[in-house]
Amino acid sequence: MKPIFRRALAVLVAAFLLIQFMPAARTNPPVKGPLTAPPQVLDVLERACFDCHSNETAWPWYTRLAPFSWLAVRDVEEGREELNFSNWALLDPGKAEELREECWEEVAEGEMPLWFYEPLHPHARLTDADREVLRQWAGAGKVSARSDLEDDDDDDDDEDDD
Ligand code: HEC
Repeated sequence: MKPIFRRALAVLVAAFLLIQFMPAARTNPPVKGPLTAPPQVLDVLERACFDCHSNETAWPWYTRLAPFSWLAVRDVEEGREELNFSNWALLDPGKAEELREECWEEVAEGEMPLWFYEPLHPHARLTDADREVLRQWAGAGKVSARSDLEDDDDDDDDEDDD
């Protein structure tokens, strides 16, 4: 190995060791108001979403290592801020409904779970059946705009006949 490469490698290794002294706080605060939902809904959300959207995050070993620890903690903090299934029961019903719809939209658009999460967590891969479970959960009590399935369209247009 050329000396310059050897030196560069030594610098990298030293930097990696040094940043280990800058830990990130991996927290799991108490669950104050857990989500209640049908078991198949809970199953999908727990598999694919709870690591970033609940206070029951599983922190794998590599989340102890900087810089992965920093990235994981940041995602979990931002994720919990947007949507936290551990505080779900404390939401007012309107907000909960809005979030349910957002969950489905994010999944339908392929935005959630975040792209790098699935390869690291194969159990989070969503099947068509899983997606359907979330779609129905989101649409509970309401017909979703893009719903071309089912025949539960409620036409409340007033008829004007003169
Ligand atoms: C690896 C972490 C991670 C996983 C897993 C994950 N999310 Fe997220 N989620 C985030 C982060 C970070 C944000 C906030 C930043 C953003 O919107 O990209 C977010 C934002 C959201 C939002 C708010 C979007 C907005 O723009 O207002 C919803 C809804 C959401 N996630 C739903 C889900 C659902 C449903 C799942 C499971 C199918 C899921 N997420 C899985 C990290 C994650």
